Amino acid sequence: MTDPAATAKRQAALKAVALVRSGMTLGLGTGSTARFVVDEVGRRLKAGQIKDIVAVPTSVATMEQAAQLGIPLVTLEERPVLDLCIDGADEVDPGGNLIKGGGGALLREKIVARAAQRLAIVVDKRKLVTRLGLTYALPVEVVTFGWGTHLAPLKALGAEPVRRVNANGEPFRTDEGHYILDCRFAGGIADPGHVDSVL
Ligand code: A5P
Repeated sequence: MTDPAATAKRQAALKAVALVRSGMTLGLGTGSTARFVVDEVGRRLKAGQIKDIVAVPTSVATMEQAAQLGIPLVTLEERPVLDLCIDGADEVDPGGNLIKGGGGALLREKIVARAAQRLAIVVDKRKLVTRLGLTYALPVEVVTFGWGTHLAPLKALGAEPVRRVNANGEPFRTDEGHYILDCRFAGGIADPGHVDSVL
């Protein structure tokens, strides 16, 4: 049976991978949509449709998937400038502002995206919103030491921060060992630029 959401994610992923050219250094995102991207890059590489690709993964999960598919991996120290990063998002507003980090790979994703000359965000239409934060909490990744000190400034911004937990009730840890504070904003995020600059 076909899952319409998965079909939409895959179709979006294939469009983004059409931007990939031989010889590129890629950033590979994280999440269920990005998985389709990595699959397609691996398929094209194996089929000889593209060659001489190297990639920086944004998470351990993506690193493992890419390695299994035979996509050569490099670090940002080896390749500090990427030609193209392809990643998913949780929400996109009409101004192109994003919520990312639902999958917990936020910090690495930001670092890899910043190193890229071009960033392709792959979403299906379910991710398009009129205002960020109406349905999705904004994830904020924080170091574990003194994590509680972030709560008051986040509340002052209008957020209701909650530390993310795993299914077993333990605090969720990112690949970097950090916590994530999921921040709900009553009425959504009125001024994403302001929230971004304060964070
Ligand atoms: C990972 O932390 C996230 O930023 C994902 O890229 C984002 O949540 C989109 O994930 P899905 O494609 O699984 O919705």
